[in-house]
Amino acid sequence: MILVTGGAGFIGSNFVLDWLAQSDEPVLNLDALTYAGNLANLASLQGNSRHVFVHGDIGDRALVDQLLSTHQPRAIVHFAAESHVDRSIHGPGAFMKTNVEGTFNLLEAARAYWGTLQGEARANFRFHHVSTDEVYGSLKPTDPPFAETNPYEPNSPYSASKAASDHLVRAWHHTYGLPVLTTNCSNNYGPYHFPEKLIPLMIVNALAGRPLPVYGDGQQIRDWLYVKDHCSGIRAVLAGGRLGETYNIGGWNEMANIDIVKTVCKLLDELRPDPAGPYARLITYVTDRPGHDRRYAIDARKIERELGWRPAETFETGIRKTVQWYLNHAEWVAQVQSGAYKEWVAANYQAR
Ligand code: NAD
Ligand code: DAU
Repeated sequence: MILVTGGAGFIGSNFVLDWLAQSDEPVLNLDALTYAGNLANLASLQGNSRHVFVHGDIGDRALVDQLLSTHQPRAIVHFAAESHVDRSIHGPGAFMKTNVEGTFNLLEAARAYWGTLQGEARANFRFHHVSTDEVYGSLKPTDPPFAETNPYEPNSPYSASKAASDHLVRAWHHTYGLPVLTTNCSNNYGPYHFPEKLIPLMIVNALAGRPLPVYGDGQQIRDWLYVKDHCSGIRAVLAGGRLGETYNIGGWNEMANIDIVKTVCKLLDELRPDPAGPYARLITYVTDRPGHDRRYAIDARKIERELGWRPAETFETGIRKTVQWYLNHAEWVAQVQSGAYKEWVAANYQAR
C-alpha cells in the first residue's frame, strides 16, 4: 500500500479518489482534519476496504512510526500542509509547525522505517514530497517560466515554509540516501477546492450574490492546472521519477486573476443565470495581499521529456467541469461554509 498524508484536503482527496479508481493498491490516509480537511470529500469511499483513514497529525512521531511498521507502505506521498497564503500572513505559526516541523518528523520516521527494509522493499521505497511553484518567488513579465534550476526566492510565510520543507527533503536524500522525489506544481483548481482560494471563492460568492473580491489591480498571473492533471503528474513521477530529482508540474496556462474571475462569471451566466444581472457586476477591487507575488509560470518540459506527462485538460474544459461540479454539489458547498469559514472570511475581507 501507499501512505498518503493530507488525503482529506483538496488535492489529496482528488489523488486518493483517482488512485483507488485506477489501481488495486490500497491507500492509508493520514490527515489531521484541520479546517481544510473534509471527510465528505471521501464519502464515495465509504465501505471501501482499500481505503484506511487515520485521523492524526504528521507531527506525531509515535503514531507515524506505528503506522509505518504496521502497514509497511512502499511509498509515502506527502500532501499534508497548511496551504493558504492569506492565512500564512494572518498566522504563520501553524505553517512552521506543519510544513516545516511536520515534514521533518515525517522524514525522520521514513528514514527509520526505510532503514528496516531490505532487498526489493528497500530499493523500491519512495518518499514523494508535494510542493509548490511559489518557492521560486515572483517572475517579471518577460522572464522565462520557472525551471527546476531556478533559485529559491520564497516571499510569503507559506512559500518560505514550503521552501524549507523542500530543502529538508533534499538534504535527507543527499545525507542519508533517503529515496525522495519532489514535485513543484502551479495553481490547481477543480472539485473539492476549499472556497478560501480564488476560483471556488468566486463561484460560491457569485452564487450567494456576494462581492467578488479581486486583490489590487487583478493583473497578477498564475499558471492554472486542473487538479486531476496534477494527480496524474504525481503518479508519473512516483512511478518513474529519478531519485533525488525535482519535477515542475504546470498547466502551460498563464492567466491574470481578473480574467479568471470574468471567465467564472461568464460560465455562471450561461449555466445558472441570475435574474439580477450578469455576475461580473459583483466584481469588487479590494486592498492587495501584502507581498503579493506578481507572476508564476511553470516550465513543465522536464516531466514531459523524461516521463511523457502533459496535462489532459485545457483551461476551457477544466473550468467548465469545475463550475458545473460546484453547481451539482450544493450540499458540499453549504457544508464547507461553516461558522469557522465565516470567521475567516470576516478576518480576511472585512477591513480590505
Ligand atoms: P489543503 O489545505 O486543501 O489540504 C491540506 C490537508 O492537509 C488537509 O486535509 C488538512 O487537514 C491536512 N493537514 C494539515 N495539517 C496537517 C497535519 N499536521 N497532519 C496531518 N494532516 C494535516 O491543501 P491542498 O491545496 O490540497 O494542497 C496539498 C499540498 O499540495 C500542499 O502541500 C500544498 O503546499 C501543495 N500544493 C498545492 C497547490 C494548490 O494549488 N492548492 C499547488 C501546488 C502545491
Ligand atoms: O502556486 C501554487 C499555490 O497556489 C499553492 O502552493 C497554494 O497552496 C495555493 O493556495 C495557491 O496559492 P495562491 O496564493 O496563488 O492562490 P489563491 O487562490 O489564494 O490566490 C490566487 C490569486 O488570486 C492570487 O494572486 C491572489 C488572488 N486572490 C485570491 C483571493 C483568495 C484575489 O484576488 N482575491 C481573493 O479573494
